[in-house]
Amino acid sequence: MSVPTNHHPIIEFRGVSKRFGSLVVLDRMDLRILPGQTTVIIGESGSGKSVMLKHTLCLLRPDEGEVYFEGARIDCLSEINLVPIRKNFGFLFQLGALFDSMTAAENIAFPLEEHGGFTPEEIQNVVTGKLRMVGLDGVQKKRPAELSGGQRKRVALARAIALSPKVVLYDEPTTGLDPVRADVINELIIKLKKELGVTGLVVTHDMASVFRVADRVLMLYQGRFRFDGTVDQVRCSSDPVVKRFVEGHASDEDLLSLQTGVSQ
Ligand SMILES: Nc1ncnc2c1ncn2[C@@H]1O[C@H](COP(=O)(O)OP(=O)(O)OP(=O)(O)O)[C@@H](O)[C@H]1O
Ligand SMILES: [Mg+2]
Repeated sequence: MSVPTNHHPIIEFRGVSKRFGSLVVLDRMDLRILPGQTTVIIGESGSGKSVMLKHTLCLLRPDEGEVYFEGARIDCLSEINLVPIRKNFGFLFQLGALFDSMTAAENIAFPLEEHGGFTPEEIQNVVTGKLRMVGLDGVQKKRPAELSGGQRKRVALARAIALSPKVVLYDEPTTGLDPVRADVINELIIKLKKELGVTGLVVTHDMASVFRVADRVLMLYQGRFRFDGTVDQVRCSSDPVVKRFVEGHASDEDLLSLQTGVSQ
């Protein structure tokens, strides 16, 4: 486990709640993410993991509570004032969407062009550097359709780190990949932490990935964190909810809803 360089959180939630209609997704959630660590968030489908990630950079805003980045409150900033804050974040989205009509190089260049202030030569150097980082130098001219699923994820990761962010949010980075390709992504998460000091927030269902990359594991359940501990602690947890998730067993309720679904 890496030792954080200081104990000031880079991201902090204080009592964050979020509802969609009558559905309470986040329920007075508290969270402190320390810089330079990889924190993995696990939890059932629909438990609010993606919603939680989107709050860290205010793509969604809380109904109640506060969100801080490096000690400054950000949840009440205007979209314009969020621009410099968001520059600190790279987001590998759950669906990993690259722009289909653009080449790999154009995809990676996109955030730099959006941000502005880079010469064509600087952009070219960043594209090459980031593709090298993800082990794909040479695919610059290929379009997403010409790349494999694993390569597309790596190009999307190269795009997420184009602006050298302090924090990278990975939403299901290994979903849909075979175990070998998934492990390439795990290695990249570890490499970005070690070589660039990136703070990683990883949402995943993939327990192999949890055990490989996590300094700290959080389990989201009913709007709050039910578990907060190390990989060894999650492996040995006696909490039935955590155990069921880690061991991949369905609960009686899950099985019942399945039966009800089938009989309908
Ligand atoms: N923009 C939105 N408007 C309305 N409801 C939403 C919105 N975003 C998410 N939800 C709902 O909030 C709940 C949590 O969604 P979220 O996407 O965070 O789940 P998740 O834990 O990421 O699930 P998965 O593992 O399947 O990706 C779901 O019930 C979802 O339907
Ligand atoms: Mg999700």
